[in-house]
Amino acid sequence: MTAYHTDDIIAVDDLVVVYPDGTRAVDGISFRVRAGEFFGFLGPNGAGKSTTIKTLTTLLRMTSGYASVAGAMVDRDPDEVRRSIGVVSQDTVVDVDLTGRENLLLFGRLQHVSSEVLEERVDQLLRVVELEDVAGKPAGRYSGGMRKRLDLASALVHEPSLLFLDEPTTGLDPQSRAALWEYLETINREKGVTIFLTTQYMEEADRLCKRIAIIDHGRLIGEGTPGELKSALGGETIELSFESSGNPELVARAAKVLGTIAGLSQLSTATSSLSASAANAERLLPSVITTLAKEDIHPSALSVSTPTLDDVFLRLTGRRIRSDELDRRTTEPFLQ
Ligand SMILES: Nc1ncnc2c1ncn2[C@@H]1O[C@H](COP(=O)(O)OP(=O)(O)O)[C@@H](O)[C@H]1O
Ligand SMILES: [Mg+2]
Repeated sequence: MTAYHTDDIIAVDDLVVVYPDGTRAVDGISFRVRAGEFFGFLGPNGAGKSTTIKTLTTLLRMTSGYASVAGAMVDRDPDEVRRSIGVVSQDTVVDVDLTGRENLLLFGRLQHVSSEVLEERVDQLLRVVELEDVAGKPAGRYSGGMRKRLDLASALVHEPSLLFLDEPTTGLDPQSRAALWEYLETINREKGVTIFLTTQYMEEADRLCKRIAIIDHGRLIGEGTPGELKSALGGETIELSFESSGNPELVARAAKVLGTIAGLSQLSTATSSLSASAANAERLLPSVITTLAKEDIHPSALSVSTPTLDDVFLRLTGRRIRSDELDRRTTEPFLQ
């Protein structure tokens, strides 16, 4: 067992979760989350994210291993764990017959929030998630985004120090997604709420999470800050294109010339293009251009790109996390 720090609000060692049908959904994972961190679990569908969250939030029993959450052992002291955490699960949990306000009051009573503070806190949360105007309407008439925000408010009504969110923005329109991101960042920064979030959107993990673990087939395959994970790929990529007809000899000659430039590595060539990695590609561009020009080589286009977390996933697994409409829509809001 790895030594654990007293600031670890989540400590997991060799956690295994096997479903009754034999599916080994979580296959020996270990990680730590420090108090106050914004921590992300990034992985494709079926990777084991929900199983991990359900186990840590006491909804599912672990098969073996060790997990402590907010100072309590998950399998020995589930009540203690539940008192310290808020959970937003993948399915909405709101009661569709109750109004938004009634839902929050109900959750508050279930969480033993004293009646003196409950009403005021519910009003404040309704304001924060921007449901004030519809607070008196049955939740069954809310849109998906509004229900998700109500879910979030109900997970916060007992002011937990640790919030678990299982793919909170899946199915949300870009505007609701952006609003939720902003709110999560605010409670993390200003109230010090530790956040454990799962997602299959690399962009979401990159934007929100200070530290990420990448999960695939029930195992952790990478861990670090988004920057660390991306720079492990060898930094940025410079791509040179030549006339589209293709000229392998010219490309080969260019590759040979570029091979002499210190700081460029991992050259790869295609018939009419060439790419190379560099820690700081932009700084190398002038010497790339002048060195090639001296040999009378003139590329028709030149670009620098920074790796994404999806490139990290691709390198680690040979697959893409997902090819999703929503990712494209969020990054390019004006393209259909
Ligand atoms: N109740 C269950 N019984 C059997 N297998 C399950 C059950 N729930 C999930 N699984 C399987 O466990 C694996 C992990 O699922 P899950 O934790 O839901 O992944 P994720 O949340 O990352 O999409 C998948 O192969 C899934 O099909
Ligand atoms: Mg899931």
